[in-house]
Amino acid sequence: MTDAPTRPDAATAPTVTFDFAKLTPRERYKLLIGAVVPRPIALVTTVDAHGVVNAAPFSFFNCLSADPAILALGVEYRQTGAQKDTGRNVRETLSFTVNIVSDALLEGMNICGVPFEPGVDELAQAGLTAMPGVKVPCPWIGQAPAAFECRHHTTLGIGNSREIILGEVVYAHFRADTIDTGNLHVDPAALDAIGRMGGHGYATTRDYFDLPGLSVAAFAADPAAANRRR
Ligand SMILES: Cc1cc2nc3c(=O)[nH]c(=O)nc-3n(C[C@H](O)[C@H](O)[C@H](O)COP(=O)(O)O)c2cc1C
Repeated sequence: MTDAPTRPDAATAPTVTFDFAKLTPRERYKLLIGAVVPRPIALVTTVDAHGVVNAAPFSFFNCLSADPAILALGVEYRQTGAQKDTGRNVRETLSFTVNIVSDALLEGMNICGVPFEPGVDELAQAGLTAMPGVKVPCPWIGQAPAAFECRHHTTLGIGNSREIILGEVVYAHFRADTIDTGNLHVDPAALDAIGRMGGHGYATTRDYFDLPGLSVAAFAADPAAANRRR
């Protein structure tokens, strides 16, 4: 158990500010992806109306609700205004599967991010194994430490450049060593998820610590506990 070093006094540090109304989309993108970090990465598997498999990574991704269980994806349109294959497939089949990206899946994830022509099976290109979905037609990736089958819930049209797709989780696959099925505790070391930083940056989740939350009484009795990592 250690007390982490105290932080510099952020309230008095020099700041630079940005009026988002005066920024280009590219400038807003750079500020957001550089500072909203680390972002989890969804390696999303879908099928088109003919069953052709597609896989692509998305880091505008998160879990937004547990009841209902909602995962969200921010999917850009292409320069031409056309939907990416993932967005088009979700519209056609109303389903997608989120595969969690572990460090061991990094290379495969990056291959799936190559802008192949529609109809190219990225999983085959990446040497990844398509396992049959249970409740959705999309496969899940056999090498993923965890995968969530989702049915389309809502698509939010938020402008001309991207859409936000919400999916409700209807089925989950966990590699057995990643989870204690007694208490449903997911082992972060076994999951070994990676995160996306700004630019081309990535981060592992290996610098892990616990920091329990405090009741008012516990904080009053021992304020230093607010920064006691273990
Ligand atoms: C780590 C990583 C994260 C990405 N995140 C997003 C994202 O959040 N939204 C997006 O539209 N594209 C994102 N991309 C780019 C897409 O993966 C890429 O455009 C892909 O070719 C889309 O494939 P699709 O046309 O098969 O759907 C990301 C790429 C990488 C490598």
